[in-house]
Amino acid sequence: MGYNPDVARIVLGVCGSVAAYRACEVARELIHRGHEVHVVMTPHATRLIAPATFAALTGNPVTVDVFDEAQPGQITHIRLAQDADLILIAPATAHTIARLALGLADDMLTTLALATRAPILVAPAMNPAMWTHPATQAHVQMLQARGVEFIDPTYGVMACGDEGWGKIADTPTMIEVVERRLKRTQELAGIHVLVTAGPTYEPIDPVRFIGNRSSGKMGYAVAQAAAERGAEVTLISGPTALDPPAGVKCIRVQTAEQMLQAVQEHFEACDVFISVAAVADYRPERVYPLKRKRSQRAWTLRLVPNPDILGTVAPRKGHRLVVGFAAETGKAIEYAREKLQRKGLDLIAVNDVLEPQSGFEVDTTRLTLLYADGSVEPLPLLPKRIAAHRLMDAVVERLHILAGKSGVPDRSHLPDSFKSP
Ligand SMILES: Cc1cc2nc3c(=O)[nH]c(=O)nc-3n(C[C@H](O)[C@H](O)[C@H](O)COP(=O)(O)O)c2cc1C
Repeated sequence: MGYNPDVARIVLGVCGSVAAYRACEVARELIHRGHEVHVVMTPHATRLIAPATFAALTGNPVTVDVFDEAQPGQITHIRLAQDADLILIAPATAHTIARLALGLADDMLTTLALATRAPILVAPAMNPAMWTHPATQAHVQMLQARGVEFIDPTYGVMACGDEGWGKIADTPTMIEVVERRLKRTQELAGIHVLVTAGPTYEPIDPVRFIGNRSSGKMGYAVAQAAAERGAEVTLISGPTALDPPAGVKCIRVQTAEQMLQAVQEHFEACDVFISVAAVADYRPERVYPLKRKRSQRAWTLRLVPNPDILGTVAPRKGHRLVVGFAAETGKAIEYAREKLQRKGLDLIAVNDVLEPQSGFEVDTTRLTLLYADGSVEPLPLLPKRIAAHRLMDAVVERLHILAGKSGVPDRSHLPDSFKSP
């Protein structure tokens, strides 16, 4: 892995905002910190500031036209998209935010943003009415749900004289967010994270099963967040309609017993186990080999308990960090604390699935993190992608604490960043 967050290749996207001149300051500061900067401008941005300014500042050609081929034979937007460690769009206009949200690719910047797997940071700049407009806010939410990080605009007086929220963030803030994000992309390098996700299906006969309403979205978001931080991720997934996140090894299973077997196979090799799957507590005692025919007689289905996956592997946790999830109703925190203690977990994330917008199938969740030391961290209602990153922040912090504790079993296999307190 040759990537060094201290010297990154950054694509700086510049849009047609009056704040376009601020991108010069940002480019200079990034270069000053040793990064390589490639500027991509929207055609409207070139009406406000000349590409030659950025070319002179960065020492690299500036790209505007998608048909511009700096090097014959190379498709510029794909090369830039693949080579970039991070895309920063500053300033981002309402128009470009809308195009990004919709996945339009009608100029170089939006085409590149669609083609890249690099993290995208967006620093909006616009009139307060444009920023607070429901259309803009809806686009921001769509992008956040896909993992795009926003560097929020500040309050102030605009170039047009209006006062409100919409001024582009100051340069030190933008630089700090960029540096933090670059470090984050490698902070779990060398760590193996095992995640379970989705429901399990417990067959009744070849046609019917007992399942639950888990969509897998939270578990997939956790797997993705770990992969985005450089971890080697194995995702053991029950049946879902989701595509596995890029770079994640996905093992698909159907039943709780299959999930347990897969977890046992991969648990030894992992450093962090995050159990997000909604595993069926019971399964039919008997699976009918043929479809059971309808009749008017009552039918009793006898259920037997399924294996408790977390309960089976948690006692063998050793040096590993073990994280549980609890989707509860009613006394959610109380139930989760009891589960945390009974299973000897390091951390449990609990949500009350009866709360609107925080449960199965939706894209948002309100998690409360409960730690083994008794501390409690309530998170706000967040897109699952963001909540997953907040959970990973907690995981990284716990790994550092574990690595720093005296008497902790051998951690020589962990990367250097986890060896010292
Ligand atoms: C002088 C001037 C300043 C502008 N400033 C902004 C701005 O700060 N934010 C914004 O969203 N649009 C601003 N606009 C409008 C955008 O340029 C316009 O919506 C354009 O279509 C954006 O295109 P782009 O996103 O491809 O750069 C400004 C226009 C002009 C003429």
